[in-house]
Amino acid sequence: MPAKTTLDDDRAVPAEAVTPLIRGVAVLRRLTEAGGTVSASGLERSTGLARSTVDRIASTLARMGYVRLDGRDVVLAPRVMELGNAYLASLGLPALLASHADALADELDESVSLAVADRDGIRFIHQATRRRAMSLSFRIGDLLPAERTAPGPLFATEWTDAQWRAWHERRAADPEDRGFPAVPPREHTSPDEDFERRAQRARKDGWALDDQLIEPGLVAVSVPVRDPRAGGRIACVASVVSHTSRHTAANLRDTLLPRLRTAVAEMERVLREAPEPQPGRVPAGLATWTGASKQELGREFVESLARGLTVLTAFGAGRAELTLTDVARATGLSRATARRALITYDHLGLVRQSGTRGFALTPRVLSLGFPPLSRTTLAQIATPHLAELAGRVHESASLAVLTPSGEEIQYTARAATSRVMSVNVTVGTRLPAYATSLGRVLLADLPEDGRQLGELRPLTSRTTTDPATLAAELEEIRARGYALVDEELEEGLRSIAVPVRDRAGRVVAAANVAMHAARRSVRECVRDVLPELTATAERITADLGVAGRFARVSVV
Ligand code: PHB
Repeated sequence: MPAKTTLDDDRAVPAEAVTPLIRGVAVLRRLTEAGGTVSASGLERSTGLARSTVDRIASTLARMGYVRLDGRDVVLAPRVMELGNAYLASLGLPALLASHADALADELDESVSLAVADRDGIRFIHQATRRRAMSLSFRIGDLLPAERTAPGPLFATEWTDAQWRAWHERRAADPEDRGFPAVPPREHTSPDEDFERRAQRARKDGWALDDQLIEPGLVAVSVPVRDPRAGGRIACVASVVSHTSRHTAANLRDTLLPRLRTAVAEMERVLREAPEPQPGRVPAGLATWTGASKQELGREFVESLARGLTVLTAFGAGRAELTLTDVARATGLSRATARRALITYDHLGLVRQSGTRGFALTPRVLSLGFPPLSRTTLAQIATPHLAELAGRVHESASLAVLTPSGEEIQYTARAATSRVMSVNVTVGTRLPAYATSLGRVLLADLPEDGRQLGELRPLTSRTTTDPATLAAELEEIRARGYALVDEELEEGLRSIAVPVRDRAGRVVAAANVAMHAARRSVRECVRDVLPELTATAERITADLGVAGRFARVSVV
């Protein structure tokens, strides 16, 4: 049995709560705690649900793009990050402060994080990681017990008596911190008074230290970022994190605390001067979409789960507090359905009442899939999409980026078919950019004076070696959105490529399909393969957009 987490509390389930939504949330949480992948039978065991229920939940989540079904495994998929994104966007702090945390990490060459209070824990909302070998590093969305961190005592300065009581109770009920899967089990029991004393000190000092409370070697110093618009309450806590091989805790305080304080003063100025966030767009037609899926999938689509999850995505930038009417309007759900979902989320601690009639998301929304995916790479995002494409067109499909020199491409992901004649490259292979479809798509996006073409050598009798001809070809590729290279790299090899873009619309990679020239004519390639390839690149681009909104997705 998994340990009881703070979610599995014993409060009675409200009569109006939506059972499939509670179960779907439990599945997402188990997947998150397990690092992103659990077999269906593993989910059956850890949730206590019937296998048929697990299967229906998994197929519903798959339909939403929140998981992939990979053989027997259920695997979290990038789209699930839109739940955590809804929270982070509604909070507004990452959008305002992340760049300041990143700049401080660069200046100090140490990790810097931002954390918010989550009941008696702290939860990370941003990580600028410079972690070296030796210590574990936390991810956006990870939850830590307050007393084993530097931010914890700072947040505890604002705790009510009821919160202190809840904290004592949790300590007694979970002496090994099993409810916090991101940290190693607690080994030494420190008396509760230690933390009370640390909170008193933190109130006096205005900063706090973590001297290896999580694991040997890991040290941190923290300062609260106060929100002038919320009466000076702590909005989040900024930490500089290091290792005893570089800094002792005392040394961290003496050398880096002053610079952390300067950065925090700047963050507080940003909060003071930030304009009111403009309400962003909400996805439209959610209710229609779930209806259509129900029609198609029947029993394997749990509509109340899908509809309930869409309620979380109604929140966002400038939409931090929503009334029941707002939620119903944004999702297209009836008021009764929206109300039951909100009652369910309130019970699960994912939504709290805010103001007189409003609701707001809580940091716990980040426990729904965010941490394992917050360090994903473009290659990981692309691989299942490339595999699907390769399966559909029966040719190998690949993803590549330009190397730092800009003269070559490097393959970063690939899905091969079982054809004997399939083109022989592997992840890591480098090829000259000018003679490949992938390379031309990447070069086409660069300004002409930013292209490093290197020497244009003839690799076959058809290779374009004239710079002016190549420049004209790149212009055309940019205009029409794809590159087709026909036996210019290798006799008998034809390939077609399209761009993959980041959130800002910049081309960050290219995807292609390569085939033997005898298999399809150029016309067939454009007519049959290009639409499939374009759709695949759009899916990868969309996933990257969701994953890269608040987390940094490495493109190599
Ligand atoms: C972290 O950002 O990883 C971190 C911050 C504060 C701590 C420990 C770790 O006390």
